[in-house]
Amino acid sequence: MVRSARAASQLMCALAALIAMAQPYARAQQPGRTVADGVFTDRQATRGAAAYSASCASCHRADLGGADGPALKDERFTRTFAARPLSAIFDRISRTMPRAAPGSLPDAVYMDIVTHLLRENGFAAGAHELTADTLESVEVLPTRARPLPPVGEFSYVEVTGCLARDQDAGWILERAGDPVAITPRLNAGAPHAAPAAVRPVDGRRIQLVDAMAYEPERHRGHLIRLRGLIMGASNEQRMTISELETVAASCR
Ligand code: HEC
Repeated sequence: MVRSARAASQLMCALAALIAMAQPYARAQQPGRTVADGVFTDRQATRGAAAYSASCASCHRADLGGADGPALKDERFTRTFAARPLSAIFDRISRTMPRAAPGSLPDAVYMDIVTHLLRENGFAAGAHELTADTLESVEVLPTRARPLPPVGEFSYVEVTGCLARDQDAGWILERAGDPVAITPRLNAGAPHAAPAAVRPVDGRRIQLVDAMAYEPERHRGHLIRLRGLIMGASNEQRMTISELETVAASCR
């Protein structure tokens, strides 16, 4: 009885040791891992951002929006890389980029840049850095919407409400919804990816600093959507306008 119990416990120990030994391997080779599983660290992506800005941004733009080179985010990222192993991104950039000097950066720097591209495409960081041995087993997913940054003083925001005239304050946005922080775009005019709520909220009013530049009389009483910089405490917010569009010709 005693002997067999000891034998069993020895067997358990041996098994546990085997499992422990196999684990790192199992983690690296785990099937079904994707870029959404926290496959890099924030610190690594931040290193990647610096390298990207030095070696890539001149052609692909600081926000990955594309210029001389294609965009590296959103639809383009999805079209080029989704459903492929993460090694596809690493190989592409380490073999062909920067365009004038392919392969000129250390592999570790290319690796960091891969993680910057992932973070910019909406994938969250995790506890371990991305390394060469996992590239092959991690699948790239379609790009994700990045979480919206919090609204603070001088945030660039989108907000919807009713354009009205106030005796003291001049032009105001009445019954304004919650301002949503958005990324300013160079190509103003195209529709935004982040749809702001088109729901006037009673109570909130925002003073419009430079409404006169937008023929406010024409939009008076309309439900409008504004983009611009927001300032001031929440009970007396002011806003400068960089884009104005009518959502509906009435506000009831
Ligand atoms: C001198 C301009 C230039 C620089 C600098 C540059 N690229 Fe490019 N990149 C391009 C052009 C042009 C293309 C498309 C034609 C080609 O593949 O050569 C491209 C293509 C790409 C692609 C393929 C994208 C797709 O969807 O097809 C990726 C990824 C990429 N570059 C990443 C990078 C990274 C990362 C860096 C920095 C290490 C970088 N590039 C630096 C010009 C540049």
